[in-house]
Amino acid sequence: MCGIVGYIGKKQASPILLGGLERLEYRGYDSAGLAVKKDGAETVIVKAKGRLRALAEKTDDGASVKGCCGIGHTRWATHGEPSETNAHPHCSDDKRVIAVHNGIIENYKPLKEKLEKAGYSFYSQTDSEVAVKLLDYYLKKEESPLCALARFMLRVRGSYALAVLFSDEPDKIFVARKDSPLLLGRGENESYLASDIPAILPYTHSVYYMENLEMATLSKSGITFYNIDKEEIHKTPVKITFSAQLAEKNGFEHFMMKEIHEQPQAVEDTLNESIKNGVICLPESLSTARIQALKTVYIVGCGSAYHVGVCAQYVIEDLAKISVRVELASEFRYRAPSLDTNALVIVISQSGETADSLGALRLAKQAGAKTLAIVNVVGSSIAREADEVMYTRAGPEIAVATTKAYSTQLIVCYLLAIAFGKAREQIEKTDCERLLAELFELPKKMHRILEDKERLQWFASKYANANALFVIGRGLDYACALEGGLKTKEISYIHAEAYPAGELKHGTISLIEDGTLVVGVLTQERLFEKTVSNMAEVKSRGAELFAVTTYGNYETESLADFTFYIPRTDEHFAVSLAVIPLQLTAYYISVARGVDVDKPRNLAKSVTVE
Ligand code: F6R
Repeated sequence: MCGIVGYIGKKQASPILLGGLERLEYRGYDSAGLAVKKDGAETVIVKAKGRLRALAEKTDDGASVKGCCGIGHTRWATHGEPSETNAHPHCSDDKRVIAVHNGIIENYKPLKEKLEKAGYSFYSQTDSEVAVKLLDYYLKKEESPLCALARFMLRVRGSYALAVLFSDEPDKIFVARKDSPLLLGRGENESYLASDIPAILPYTHSVYYMENLEMATLSKSGITFYNIDKEEIHKTPVKITFSAQLAEKNGFEHFMMKEIHEQPQAVEDTLNESIKNGVICLPESLSTARIQALKTVYIVGCGSAYHVGVCAQYVIEDLAKISVRVELASEFRYRAPSLDTNALVIVISQSGETADSLGALRLAKQAGAKTLAIVNVVGSSIAREADEVMYTRAGPEIAVATTKAYSTQLIVCYLLAIAFGKAREQIEKTDCERLLAELFELPKKMHRILEDKERLQWFASKYANANALFVIGRGLDYACALEGGLKTKEISYIHAEAYPAGELKHGTISLIEDGTLVVGVLTQERLFEKTVSNMAEVKSRGAELFAVTTYGNYETESLADFTFYIPRTDEHFAVSLAVIPLQLTAYYISVARGVDVDKPRNLAKSVTVE
């Protein structure tokens, strides 16, 4: 959601800014802009509505905007429609202050009124223009840009990653951060800033993560960090281990397809991250005594991360016999859950920056619960603020619709379930070994499914014009259906609804008519016949059926119009396999309908607003 980049050095800034913004496209945006400063000349600001291509065309791929210092931005509209006027950078009337902003200034209304009284006028509907004019206001009162920035940070409520060009200090870019991601990097005689690593990965593998309420100045010769009291602070760079290639398509037509294919490796890497010498390595504070004392585990997340939680609930309750509650972060954070020190709150997030998940984490900490984050992005806000972190090793996920991050989050949850089960003496050592061995078999089985993908392409092309579809299942199959439904709707724009198979006849079955597509997930032996009966009920009302089931369950052939088989595994882990045909089907439907698979409309990869 909004991406910012910045460069100061000896090279031309515009192509670097455009390239960086392109690598942040996955975050979601509807307009873009850049500001570039050339020695002795007025800073040039160029903006364009729509895709980044429009900005590249306006600037001749950056060649027409000269200068070695600049900032760039992709905007995902919050305050004010997507338009050139509302696009960033924003500036004060005399261009003394020019800035790009990611985040939301919550108290922008009273600030705007105050500034209007002081004689300021506004050309856009954005909170970010208010931020820029507030900086200008303070600059006129304070001695230096750094003082103005520090005062700004004390005055605004909300979130910001801010990059500012002050004409008073032409050889520097100023940045400040609160609750929106921002990282800085150094090359030879040059400095970079960005919202996320892929933007600057071609230039540097060593980055500094900005913490909340920190500022920095970037120049050709170096980066200086400050706390909110303007005192210099020291920060240590973090080495990024993944290569720039991981953020490229590598011959696939879309990032989503590439990431679907990366799942076996991501699962293996995540297993190897947390299992050492055959033993699951839990964070230190999750001792056996602590796990035994746990009364309730809460799992909190948004979207697909929440779906992982639904799956984890079944597995943890079954293997460890602990009561688990799964909650949407946006709801959990505004309830008053009765949390105490015997509760563990697990927050699941790929980006580690999702505003509601971060809010839920903070609420849990305030209430005295222990918190554990399952996060993909190292150094992200949720990873830093949680008491403990377990990292997924999915690598950078660029497609807006998550696939490999979802799969690796499932793996960490399985590991927790097994470890909790063992610590609470609910499963034997031999069960534990068997389950772990089975987990290591998953990558191979995922490959087998991927080899069969053309069958799904054929099937998807048949249903690309469907108006609506249902994905149904019971137990863990329902957890899987939730993810299948979301994948379909977000990238195909077909209304797709996941439903517990047994619940259909309590109202929703009235929507079934001739030709409605119903996808049944059937991997749980105990529930197989029950779901088959529910599928028969919709078939007799005109539905067409697609079954996803395990090899050997050939009874569905006579009922379903199309069946896709997945390899057998321990039933606790079947979602990891069953979700792949659902991801692929959603992908192929999306392609057949001509949707922008990697960047579906209205969506953003990192949802940093509530
Ligand atoms: C769906 C999807 C979203 C995310 C959700 C949480 O494909 O990607 O539903 O799962 O926005 O994001 P993170 O995991 O970054 O907190």
